[in-house]
Amino acid sequence: MKSVFIKTYGCQMNAYDSDRMEDVLAPIGYRPTDRAEYADIVILNTCHIREKASEKVYSELGRLKRLKFSRAENGAQMLIAVAGCVAQAEGAEIIRRQPAVDIVVGPQSYHRLPEMIAKIARGTGQVLETDFAAEDKFDSLPAETSNSGPAAFLSIQEGCDKFCTFCVVPYTRGAEFSRPVAQVVLEAERFVSRGVREITLLGQNVNAYRGADDDGQTWSLAQLVVRLSRIEGLARLRYTTSHPADMSDDLIAAHREVDALMPYLHLPVQSGSDRVLAAMNRRHGRADYLRVVDKVRAARSDIALSSDFIVGFPGETDKDFEATLALVREVGYAQAFSFKYSARPGTPAAAERKQIPEDIKSARLQCLQDLLRAQQKAFNQASVGKTVSVLFEQSGRKAGQAVGRSPWLQPVHVDDASTLIGEIRDVRIENVLPNSLGGRLVPAREESSTH
Ligand code: SAH
Ligand code: SF4
Ligand code: F3S
Repeated sequence: MKSVFIKTYGCQMNAYDSDRMEDVLAPIGYRPTDRAEYADIVILNTCHIREKASEKVYSELGRLKRLKFSRAENGAQMLIAVAGCVAQAEGAEIIRRQPAVDIVVGPQSYHRLPEMIAKIARGTGQVLETDFAAEDKFDSLPAETSNSGPAAFLSIQEGCDKFCTFCVVPYTRGAEFSRPVAQVVLEAERFVSRGVREITLLGQNVNAYRGADDDGQTWSLAQLVVRLSRIEGLARLRYTTSHPADMSDDLIAAHREVDALMPYLHLPVQSGSDRVLAAMNRRHGRADYLRVVDKVRAARSDIALSSDFIVGFPGETDKDFEATLALVREVGYAQAFSFKYSARPGTPAAAERKQIPEDIKSARLQCLQDLLRAQQKAFNQASVGKTVSVLFEQSGRKAGQAVGRSPWLQPVHVDDASTLIGEIRDVRIENVLPNSLGGRLVPAREESSTH
């Protein structure tokens, strides 16, 4: 038996891909390990979204090179592979900067890892593979999956045609592609037969899903959600990430009509300023976004919202930034990610003259994060005393403890629940910890919640 160690950076689509890489390598005898020191192949599944994320890869590669050489001194071979979005964006440049790398494989080519490893065994030198056909990949991934645990990710859509002026995704993941309906349903059924109770549908632009069914009809995300909700044993559905311009009325209606669809929506807005939104090529204004939020809340009053924000986009003034703060106050978020704008090679915004100085970006980020943190705290605080349903996903740090998620994605710690992993139970929330909630199981006769 050989072993593979995968380190995953970036978004949930990379997390899904890392699991699938394990599945691709299993038939040729590789078992996952969590120790790079003993692995026969180490894969870095990388992210290119911000400069920090992609530079991290090179320092990690430096460490791996030393590991590889010390293993070689003991007569053992260790392959180093770079996968994911840095692989796609930088290709051969990676091997030039770090010659210890054996394989560079883009996000649409990793199903070919076995043949790349075989090539290296034949002594052909390094292998570079950055083709762009998502279709081939999904058709050739093995049916067997190693995924375990009650909550799973399922990629249904890849790529992006939106071309926001700051973003590398349309270049690293290519054009939008939706997996066919039957393929998605089959994969979801397989997950459920292995004990999965919650599925998060993934896509860089998941609500732009347009999947073909066997009759050649095109399905929307809403239609797919309704179909998946009929799978016996599948209790919860989520989807991420959505673009505000693709938040169609049928999808909003699904939040009213489909019980399994959890009351949580990640809807990135990036900025609250119309001027900045236009410069970002976001294809929606502030009012459009607020209208979508209103509609979603009218469909499902308990829905919690989260978002992504960028501060210090080229040309962003104090007034623009104030508009972002005002939007945050108006919407009220349960959770959010916020970033300093990072100029990415090849994107239009990187060529803008009015780049914002680092200290201004830092000050704006701090200010925005203070506000978002306060909102998150208030949201969590409001859960105290309430009974919420929790899907238990894993054991906690303390003996007997289990950790699960509420419908609103809050981690919930419960004592004496370690036998309940994979089950959904009602929990009374008693306290708010820095990054999670604590609660107590509600005895069965008092159970009331529905999720
Ligand atoms: N497809 C998603 C998000 C993709 S990337 C969407 O359309 O919203 C995740 C987040 O990273 C983005 O929402 C954005 O907030 C952030 N991001 C992307 N490019 C960035 C850049 N150049 N600098 C800083 N943050 C960036
Ligand atoms: Fe990037 Fe914009 Fe596409 Fe999201 S919608 S992946 S931010 S280009
Ligand atoms: Fe990063 Fe690629 Fe995801 S750039 S955020 S890993 S799509």
